[in-house]
Amino acid sequence: MTDSFSRHKINPGWIEVIVGCMFSGKTEELIKQLHRAQYARRSLQVFKPLIDNRYSENDVASHKQTTFPSEPVKDSVEILRQVKRTTDIVGIDEAQFFDDGLIDVVESLANAGKRVIVAGLDTDWRGEPFGCMPQIMAKAEVIHKQYAICVVCGEPATRTQRLVSNNSEILVGSTESYEARCRQHFDPELSLRLGALETSKDLPTSP
Ligand code: TMP
Ligand code: MG
Repeated sequence: MTDSFSRHKINPGWIEVIVGCMFSGKTEELIKQLHRAQYARRSLQVFKPLIDNRYSENDVASHKQTTFPSEPVKDSVEILRQVKRTTDIVGIDEAQFFDDGLIDVVESLANAGKRVIVAGLDTDWRGEPFGCMPQIMAKAEVIHKQYAICVVCGEPATRTQRLVSNNSEILVGSTESYEARCRQHFDPELSLRLGALETSKDLPTSP
């Protein structure tokens, strides 16, 4: 630890972010950190957005099905309401799905002495910063960037390729809709081209 972390002894609050593309092990890393804290008998609370019901309604769950109990919440304000005074560590998974209010919520929890661990996608299917994540990263003391493996070339992957025709920011899914790609093999136009292809198939053929 450097001198800049000396205030740690007085107020243990800080923000730690785990980011990367899909299939990079973000939730695995979050769960690993939570288990370590449990061994040290820290008191924990873990939250995820209600919308993330992909593998489990109530647990934080990785693609490998490693799970950790969590409290699903509808928005960032609910996190602030639910966190107990006695909680040392607050974990938040799938943070990219939360409203912008999450930025102030994590900041005020850290100021109140909590260690806040936030996991989420840094970029969306277009390769653009995702929701509140960039601001939270800017305010964090620590950032863990995770890498997946590009399915095309096997090099480190930093982007999430959407494989289906859908232009919405939010599309909950897994391997049926997404894969990890490196910068070179990432094709943000693919989803749009698939949409155009479907539309052209729907057009009546001329007699
Ligand atoms: P994961 O990072 O834990 O694998 O989960 C990411 C979730 O975000 C997954 O449900 C798919 C979803 N998602 C979107 O809603 N929009 C996007 O642009 C991307 C890339 C993922
Ligand atoms: Mg995850």
